[in-house]
Amino acid sequence: MAGDSASARQGFPGGGRDAIGGVPRLRGGRREPTLRRVSRAKEAAGRAAAEHVRDGWTVGLGTGSTVHFALERLAERIRHERLAVRGVPTSLATEREARELGIPLVSLDDVASVDLTIDGADEIDERFDMIKGGGAALLREKVVAFLSRRELIVVDRAKCVERLGRAFPLPVEVVPFARAVVARRIAALGAECALRVRGGQPVVTDNGNHVLDCRFRDGIADARAMERTLDEIPGLVESGLFIGLAHALLVGDESGAVHLRERPPR
Ligand code: 5RP
Repeated sequence: MAGDSASARQGFPGGGRDAIGGVPRLRGGRREPTLRRVSRAKEAAGRAAAEHVRDGWTVGLGTGSTVHFALERLAERIRHERLAVRGVPTSLATEREARELGIPLVSLDDVASVDLTIDGADEIDERFDMIKGGGAALLREKVVAFLSRRELIVVDRAKCVERLGRAFPLPVEVVPFARAVVARRIAALGAECALRVRGGQPVVTDNGNHVLDCRFRDGIADARAMERTLDEIPGLVESGLFIGLAHALLVGDESGAVHLRERPPR
C-alpha cells in the first residue's frame, strides 16, 4: 500500500506503520486490490466490535459500511447465543438493515441511555476526536453517541490521522433555507463548501436537511474550537465534528487483525 493516498494518512494505532503488516500479495506477486483489502479491514473491525455487546444491553447501531459487519455479527450472536439486546439505529438505512437481520429495535424515545454504541468514522485523531457524516447520518449519530455510556468506533487504519479535515471534507447538516448563508459563513472560516449531491439532486438527510462538505486546505487545527464556532451559526443543524464522544477504537487491518485502543486521558 505504500505510496497511495490512504497509506499516507495511516497513523497511530499499534505504534507505527509496520505494526499493520505488509501488503498482502496474491499468487504471482500481484497486489490485492485496495478495495478488497479495505473491506477486509472493515470487516475485521466491525465483527470484533459486536463481540463487545453483552446480554441485556441497549446498543446504538451506527451507520456505514464498517458498521454493516458489526450488524451482521450481532445478528449471528442474537441467533446463536439468544442475546437479549435492543438496538437504537442512527439512520433509516441502519434501521432497515437491522430489521432485515432480525435485530430487535427500540425507539430513542423509550431509552434513557445506551449501554454501547458501535459506529464508524471518516477520520479519527489521536485524541479520538472525529469527523463523521460521510453517510449523511451525523445528526442522529451524534445524538445517540451523546446518550451512550460507551462509544466504540470501528475503522480501517486509513481513517487514523494526525489532523482532522486534511483529507476528508467536514460534513455539516444544514436547513435547506439557510444553505447559502451557512456556506458563506463557513467560507469566511477558510473552507470551500460544496453541497452534497447525488444524481444531480441535493442529498436529503433522514431529517429532511442538506449536507455541505467543507474542505479546509490545511485541515482543522483546533477541532474543539471549530465545533463551537460552527454551533453558533443559525441554520447549521449539526457539524460532523465529534469531540470527546468516542471512548474506544477498534482498528482493523488488511490481514484481518484488530487493534483495540482506549481513549487517552484528555
Ligand atoms: C455516516 C458515518 C459513517 O460512520 C462514516 O462515514 C464511516 O463510514 P464507513 O464505515 O462506510 O467508512 O459517519 O454518517
